Amino acid sequence: MKARIVTLPGDGVGPEVTAAAVAVLNAVATHYEHTFAFDEQLIGGAAIDATGEPLPTSALQACQSADAVLLGAVGGPKWSDPNAPMRPEQGLLALRATLGVYANLRPLTVHPALAGLSPLKDDKLKNVDVLFVRELTGGAYFGAKTKGADYATDECRYTEAEIERVARRAFELARARRKHVTSVDKANVLETSRLWRRTVTRIAADYPDVTLEHQLVDSMAMLLLTRPGSYDVVVTENLFGDILTDEAAALAGSLGLLPSASLGEGRNGLYEPIHGSAPDIAGQGVANPIGTILSVALLLRHSLRLEAEAQAVEAAVDRVLQHGPRSRDIGGDAGTAEVRDAVLAALADHVATHRDSFSGSRACG
Ligand code: IPM
Ligand code: MG
Repeated sequence: MKARIVTLPGDGVGPEVTAAAVAVLNAVATHYEHTFAFDEQLIGGAAIDATGEPLPTSALQACQSADAVLLGAVGGPKWSDPNAPMRPEQGLLALRATLGVYANLRPLTVHPALAGLSPLKDDKLKNVDVLFVRELTGGAYFGAKTKGADYATDECRYTEAEIERVARRAFELARARRKHVTSVDKANVLETSRLWRRTVTRIAADYPDVTLEHQLVDSMAMLLLTRPGSYDVVVTENLFGDILTDEAAALAGSLGLLPSASLGEGRNGLYEPIHGSAPDIAGQGVANPIGTILSVALLLRHSLRLEAEAQAVEAAVDRVLQHGPRSRDIGGDAGTAEVRDAVLAALADHVATHRDSFSGSRACG
């Protein structure tokens, strides 16, 4: 197939991890005979420096007409002055809103070979396989903001329609998994949460094969540490999802491992590792590219509908996590390029093996 993919390397380690992930996409294109055209655009602090804006119109337009968008990271100390007229993060928020990618999928699994790096004991980590579905274009992130000399407000607003569409996405995803949805809110205090709970409960009636459970967000923060193995799909509003997914990521051993996909109604999606720009290690060639490479697998699956290719990338990463080399954040000393090359080699092996077994079975038949 042919696809046009916009890349937004952004700030900090963003360019390094994005380059590694593009190498993987190029390898997929070669192995499976696809044509991927890449269009690199500016976002974040890099865009502010070059154009004065965190997301130039030309970059936004390129993203809107792409088949998929791959992003590295935005932000850094250089642009963190609270009085600055513009922040890199505004570019990312504008991109999410304009693309209409309201459902942010953040899968969490704990690779057995890395369980030792997790702050939790091994027995708690068995069967951890959670898919967070974070509402991404509503709530306090996008509500009206005001500030005076001695006060500030951020309005948290949700409409039923906004809750309904992300809830449906969660139930549909749960259907293809273990058929369990946990909806997280703060319905004992917040009006938006009561609307959230009512709406999710109403939508659940359309999915009788899926079990729905509600949890309050404070309690959920604790449950993620005491029994992370009991959750399947977790759906929640924007700010709660932001916080819970960072907490959950710690369970995997490193933030550097986890991917995300942000989806709307069409096929186009925004794919990014969940880690930030990591300015402390930027430019040194030591960042872990695996979160971005796994985001590429999600891109292949959700935007390009190339499931075999997605699984091949995931299998390659799995093998590298099992046998190394490993980057520093997961206890090794390999650099970004070495991990990338190991994934490329594992991918080539995977493709060769599957081709052999395919022709082998034909020969037998
Ligand atoms: C994330 C990040 C962003 C968010 C920031 C960079 C605006 O923390 O993707 O989780 O808060 O959504
Ligand atoms: Mg976050």
